[in-house]
Amino acid sequence: MKRLAILGASGHGKVLADMAELLGWQDVIFFDDAKPWIEKAGRWRVEGGTSELIATIQAYNGAIVAIGDNLVRLDKQRLLAESGGALISLVHPQASVSRYASIGAGSVVMAGAVINVDAHVGKGCIINTGATVDHDCELGDGVHLSPGVHLAGGVKVGRESWVGIGASVKQLVSIGDGVVVGAGAAVVQNLPDRCTALGVPARIV
Ligand SMILES: CC(C)(COP(=O)(O)OP(=O)(O)OC[C@H]1O[C@@H](n2cnc3c(N)ncnc32)[C@H](O)[C@@H]1OP(=O)(O)O)[C@@H](O)C(=O)NCCC(=O)NCCS
Repeated sequence: MKRLAILGASGHGKVLADMAELLGWQDVIFFDDAKPWIEKAGRWRVEGGTSELIATIQAYNGAIVAIGDNLVRLDKQRLLAESGGALISLVHPQASVSRYASIGAGSVVMAGAVINVDAHVGKGCIINTGATVDHDCELGDGVHLSPGVHLAGGVKVGRESWVGIGASVKQLVSIGDGVVVGAGAAVVQNLPDRCTALGVPARIV
């Protein structure tokens, strides 16, 4: 039986569990540091916290982190990898990923997402429902593209950046590390590291 451990009993975690079952994982078990206060993530049981997962990691054929905070997700992912966990990535069967694109370990690509030719997605990224990543885009580790984000060709998104729901980024624009792009923004110019940009066209606030 294929057993998958998901760290993070969140709504996002439930989406991953549902997707994992579609992809043939037969036994999906959650871990969350809020155990014992949280016993379940929807219909899936929560077995323990991070330390329990690390202690039993060899019992799982795969492990993935389902934590929305980009920094925490990467940190937990590093911990699991150092503990010998088999970090997997999950790509929804109804996502379209070019055979010439790459997706790093621990990343997830949700239903309706499109990743086009020569795009590279780092480790521990979330390419959320219906997001599109056009040709030649480069995403660093721990990036989150929220639902319905559109990146035109050749866009760069630095590590740990979060692009809010429905935002669009013009071709060849470079977004720095640790940036927050607000929901619905239209990014038409490069953004430096660790800023927040909102609006149409997006302005740094
Ligand atoms: C940008 C963002 C992170 C700011 O969150 P926040 O710090 O809690 O900000 P607040 O809600 O307190 O809003 C602060 C101000 O910014 C404005 N603002 C917030 N988000 C905005 C946006 N996306 N575009 C334009 N203005 C925005 C608010 O109207 C408010 O303005 P005011 O001070 O004139 O009243 C958040 O609004 C956002 O867009 N998050 C993305 C959500 C998302 O993608 N969810 C899906 C996850 S899968």
